Amino acid sequence: MLTIADIRKEYLKKLDYLDLELIIAHALKKPREFVASHPEYELSGARLAAIRSFVVRRAKHEPLAYILGHKEFYGFDFKVTPDTLIPRPETELLVEDVLRHLQTADRGQKTVIDIGTGSGNIIISLVKALSDSDFKISNSKFYGIDISEEALRVAKRNAKNNPARGKIKFLHGNLLEPLIKIRSAFRVPRSIIITANLPYLSREIYDATLPNVKKYEPKSALYSPNEGLAHYEGLFKQLEKTIADYGSQMEIFLEISPEQKTKLPKLIKKYLPGAQIEFRKDLAGKWRVCHIAL
Ligand SMILES: C[S@@+](CC[C@H](N)C(=O)[O-])C[C@H]1O[C@@H](n2cnc3c(N)ncnc32)[C@H](O)[C@@H]1O
Repeated sequence: MLTIADIRKEYLKKLDYLDLELIIAHALKKPREFVASHPEYELSGARLAAIRSFVVRRAKHEPLAYILGHKEFYGFDFKVTPDTLIPRPETELLVEDVLRHLQTADRGQKTVIDIGTGSGNIIISLVKALSDSDFKISNSKFYGIDISEEALRVAKRNAKNNPARGKIKFLHGNLLEPLIKIRSAFRVPRSIIITANLPYLSREIYDATLPNVKKYEPKSALYSPNEGLAHYEGLFKQLEKTIADYGSQMEIFLEISPEQKTKLPKLIKKYLPGAQIEFRKDLAGKWRVCHIAL
């Protein structure tokens, strides 16, 4: 019978060490530490077949997160499928910015809306992190919206574990539309926080993206027409109308592509002339978050 050590020897030329360890752990349904500390462990035929099929998929550059079926984001574990974008580390900046804002904001009721929620990573991380703080979750409302029903199914599963369980309402539709239909969402005297990591890659940037991203991750989660700004422009148009109708106080946090920093202020002011706009860089020194206060 083959052991973990045998498999390691066989596949280390094909795969990265860490990827192989995680694949073996996943096939055995055991923690990675077990794989590292039990080289003599004998693999049954079924486990071996599973490892071999995962190795073939990884060798074809399928993202590890899709093979394992989950990805860590902001210290929490999220189920991901080919219907959802794999959460990126730079998006953690958006979560940090919202949490920092909430620490200094008034303690009144909030409505937090995550548009383009995907696996639910942003809104679920916010709820989980806020549950550990003195923020009163029960006073506030949390929503996740996506145009993909398949992604929403994954987000709902991710929100099933405590402390997020039952705290977030997931809605299907185009940008803010499903909430605009629930008029009371904007009428009540809550201040509104919007987070959005919408598709923002321009045609040129999408075309130049790594082949494995284009092959495996949904294009509908990444590409946006009009230099990557069509989705955000759609959102600004909806916000212009919402504010005209309900006049809510809002803080909006958008993840952006760095080159959009120069174009965004003009686009935002076209629809939201009173907006105060700030940008923040990610750890790689690239402009990544646009904060709009209304
Ligand atoms: C870049 S992904 C972000 C997913 C997740 N929030 C994250 O940070 O990993 C963009 C998401 O926006 C969704 N989306 C695309 N167009 C949309 C629209 N018009 N209205 C709502 N969601 C949309 C996609 O289905 C996808 O889940």
